[in-house]
Amino acid sequence: MNTLNHFETPQLELLHRGKVRDSFRAPSGERLIVVTDRLSAFDSVLETPVAHKGAVLNGLAAFWFDKTRHIIPNHVISLPDPNVTLAQEAEPIRVEMVVRHYLTGSMWRGYQQGQRSFSGVAVPDGLTKHQQFPEPIVTPTTKEESDREITPENLVAEGWVTAELYEQMRVKALELFNFASQWMAERGIILVDTKYEFGLRNGELLLIDEIHTPDSSRFWSADDYARNPEAAEQMDKEYVRQWLIAHKQDGQYPRALTPEVSAEATRRYLDIYERITGAPLPVASSTNDDMQARMVRNLVRAGIIQDA
Ligand SMILES: Nc1ncnc2c1ncn2[C@@H]1O[C@H](COP(=O)(O)OP(=O)(O)O)[C@@H](O)[C@H]1O
Ligand SMILES: [Mg+2]
Repeated sequence: MNTLNHFETPQLELLHRGKVRDSFRAPSGERLIVVTDRLSAFDSVLETPVAHKGAVLNGLAAFWFDKTRHIIPNHVISLPDPNVTLAQEAEPIRVEMVVRHYLTGSMWRGYQQGQRSFSGVAVPDGLTKHQQFPEPIVTPTTKEESDREITPENLVAEGWVTAELYEQMRVKALELFNFASQWMAERGIILVDTKYEFGLRNGELLLIDEIHTPDSSRFWSADDYARNPEAAEQMDKEYVRQWLIAHKQDGQYPRALTPEVSAEATRRYLDIYERITGAPLPVASSTNDDMQARMVRNLVRAGIIQDA
């Protein structure tokens, strides 16, 4: 099956190659975000791309940007290709607005070691793994070499954001989170936690980057959680992680997946897409497409690059 491991065209300036996405400068000055099929686990990118993962992530982000327009404007201009978003360039605010509804991940690890305050949010003793908080909480981090938990007061004191802007971001982040939580809950999925990024455009607050994707969020199956909360696992990636753990050799995780494991990962991403949006991923049926060629064709059609 054809996959997209990385995208290249001499016509576009590469701005940033991330773990999963490649960002380019469009001639119009806008930002072109290419979501590849790369999968990152345990902090490294696997050699085996996962078919359709990029289109699932790009499609889910687009779905949510569209659904949440009434809450906040966002950077999306168009989707010239299933794996590509053309976005307005914003002046990014170097803060990750992390919203959490359950005690898990790095927060659970800190909690086990006795930490009781997270980015200024105090939590009581006696909580158990994966316990739900009475309300979602916001635990911001800075966006720098290695992200740092920080209180809202210090974000302002250190000059990352003004107090007024932080308050707007906090209110919007919670509104977005509650809206998506409810939508997903009706479809059997728990939105465990996620992070939002904001930017400024002509002085206006804009939602940027990606939202409510499996790469920026944790999803649990509500059934799994009801059966045994502490055993709930990420619906998308946990399966791959467990396989990597089971096949560790000489202290090293495998760098590639078998075709079977990669196919199962694809199945899980497609399932999440369909459960959330209510329709199968449109591009999933075209398995023999040469993706690089298709993208070039679509970018030419959209007037973003010239026919070579
Ligand atoms: N509309 C936008 N305007 C400006 N910057 C953006 C916009 N959307 C996303 N970004 C930035 O682009 C970068 C994308 O990086 P990403 O693909 O997530 O790679 P990484 O693996 O390094 O996190 C982030 O720093 C994000 O803040
Ligand atoms: Mg990122």
